[in-house]
Formats: sequence, structure tokens, C-alpha cells
Amino acid sequence: MFIDVVTSPLFQPTRLGALALANRIVMAPLTRSRALPGDVPRPSAAVYYAQRASAGLIISEATQVSDAAKGYAWTPGCYTDEQVAGWRSVTDAVHARGGTIVVQLWHVGRISHPSLQPGGAQPVAPSAVTPRGQAFTETGFEPHEEPRALERDEIRRVVDDFAHAAAMARRAGFDGVEIHGANGYLIDQFLRDGSNRRTDDYGGSIENRTRFLFEVVGAVTQAIGGDRTGLRLSPVTPVNDAHDSDPAPLFRHAVEGLNRFELAYLHMIEGATGGARNHAPGFDFGALRRVFKGAYMANNGYNSVMADTALREGRADAIAFGRPFIANPDLVERLKAGMPLATADPATFYGGGDEGYTDYPAMDG
Ligand SMILES: Cc1cc2nc3c(=O)[nH]c(=O)nc-3n(C[C@H](O)[C@H](O)[C@H](O)COP(=O)(O)O)c2cc1C
Repeated sequence: MFIDVVTSPLFQPTRLGALALANRIVMAPLTRSRALPGDVPRPSAAVYYAQRASAGLIISEATQVSDAAKGYAWTPGCYTDEQVAGWRSVTDAVHARGGTIVVQLWHVGRISHPSLQPGGAQPVAPSAVTPRGQAFTETGFEPHEEPRALERDEIRRVVDDFAHAAAMARRAGFDGVEIHGANGYLIDQFLRDGSNRRTDDYGGSIENRTRFLFEVVGAVTQAIGGDRTGLRLSPVTPVNDAHDSDPAPLFRHAVEGLNRFELAYLHMIEGATGGARNHAPGFDFGALRRVFKGAYMANNGYNSVMADTALREGRADAIAFGRPFIANPDLVERLKAGMPLATADPATFYGGGDEGYTDYPAMDG
């Protein structure tokens, strides 16, 4: 199956809020765990992202908003001057190639480990519920430990950390930010009742469980503008032990409430992240797309035909590709030429140096 590249909306420009995209092919956020001490992006991150600058939009790897927000070895931050300087060379390199780039801002919450926390502290979460699974630490995989429930005044500080990191991102030259509300990290932990057992006004009802999300989105949009702010959600993904007893009304309320922030876009992981698109059969992503008044970016397991069809049928305004961008720096040109895609080596997804990072060649190599 081929797409008609002349008429395909994939290759047509668009705007998402204040973000100008040369095409609708977005590079999804991809953690690569290669940052330097101080959680500063390595110099070759500028090469890596610039190689991928023909994407209509690059969403950076998940980037912590504070030292306590970290949950994996060697992930970068965006809250110190040194980190901002590191990111500045990335954004300059992408802009020099005509690209557009936002930073994905995260707080991992309970998906961490004391060895990754300042002073070896216990990770924090909405509630003291230990996630199943293992943390990726500097010395290997370690079982997750019981997190500590955030106090109310601490929640306010985490909200401020998101706003601070967003302001720092603009200083670093990013065109905007994507708030990471997906994949079982802190915002998602507040949303879903599998991880949120609070009895105060951040837990219990759907209104209460969406409070933290709206506070973060409110603070970030106030800091840098809604038209430079995107949000990623994954209503049914099971990754990182995320689960909810009734996700449809929860995410409907969340998306309805997001309309007031006039976001640049809403980025939806449809199904299980990196897995089955029909992980929760019957869950209606189209209904969420219709509730949302802004631009809708779809992700998860798309190939060019699926992406082309979704755009033509109005089911999305842009499509994010994750794994294909690892081994295909010129994914846009390859899709346009109908060329076969290279396959990435999972052994070099996380950690290490430039091997499996900047050495995947472009078509004309
Ligand atoms: C190596 C790797 C790293 C990832 N890192 C992130 C991340 O930092 N933030 C995020 O939201 N999703 C992350 N994801 C999920 C991807 O953004 C994407 O949702 C997933 O790969 C499904 O899209 P695809 O089928 O186009 O690959 C990662 C996936 C992979 C394979």
C-alpha cells in the first residue's frame, strides 16, 4: 500500500497554536538516557536532533523539571543554567536546519528509585502505593520502592517546578513545551485511581483527580502561553503499572477541562504505549478528539498509510512517530520517497554514547 505523496496531508504545513510545522509528521518524545553529569544534554544531542529537523515538529526526550522529578539514569533536566546552555546548542542546531522543537517536561513521581533522588530520598507520589516493575538506575534495574505521598504544600511546589522549567525552556530556545501527562508518571498517577488513593481534594472524585493536571497546565500556560504548550495523555496505557477503574469519564472530563487553556495541541497515545492499539477495546479516542477544541496529535503504531488515512478522515491534525525516528533520521524524506524504513537496535535505545544515536545514516547517507 502506498500513499499519494502529492496530495497527502502528511507533507502539508500546518500550525499548532504558535508552532509552525512544515509538515504533519512529528517526532515523538524518545528517552535516550545519554545526558552528562548535572543532567546536561551531551554535545552530540545537537547533532542527533538536527539530523531529525525535517520533522514538522520535534518533541524532545522527557526532561525533568527538578532533581526530584528524575526516574531513569542519565536523563536530562531543564531547570539549571548549565542545562539551559546545553539545550541552547540543541535548539540552535534544529532551528539552523529549519526545524521546530519543544521540550517534553516530566515528573516521574513513583516511577523512580532512591539512588536517582537527591540525598537518596524516597520517591514521591499522590499516595504510598508501590508500582510493580523496576527502575532503570545507573547500576542496573532495581525494583521500585514504596513512594511517599506528597504533602499539600509540596504539590504547590511541584506545580511551580513545571512553570519554572517551562520558562527555562523558552530561555533555552525551545519553541514551546509538551507537558508529559502520560505513561504512568506523576500527572497520570494523580489522574488514575490505581495510584491515587488520596482523601483530600486531590483524590477521590474525577474533579479532584484532575485537579493536579489542571494546576500544572494552568501554571505552564501562564508562564509561556497556551499556544506554546502541548499536553500528552495515554488514557488506557498499562505501562508503569498505570490503571483506572473507569477511564472514559475521567479522560472526558480532563479533555473538556483542557479546552479553557487553548493549548497548541493535545497529544494522544492510542492504546498501550508501543503495544496494542486496541488494548482497551471500545475505548473511543474519536470521542475525545471531538470533545477537544484544539489541534489533536495522534500516536502509537502508525505507519504512513494509517497516518495518511487518519489525517484525510479528520481523525487527527498531526501524527507522531516514535520508534521509526530512531533509525530513520530523514523519516519525512523516506516516507515521501516511499523508501523502506531502517529498523533500530533496541540494545542502544537507552544509555551509551553516539553508537545507535547519531550514526544512523540518512538515505543519501
Ligand atoms: C526508546 C523509547 C523511548 C521513549 N521515551 C519516551 C519519552 O521520553 N516520553 C514519552 O512520552 N514517550 C516515550 N516513548 C514512547 C514513544 O513516544 C511512543 O509513544 C511509542 O514509541 C509509540 O509510538 P511508535 O509506535 O510510533 O513508536 C519512548 C519509546 C521508546 C521506544
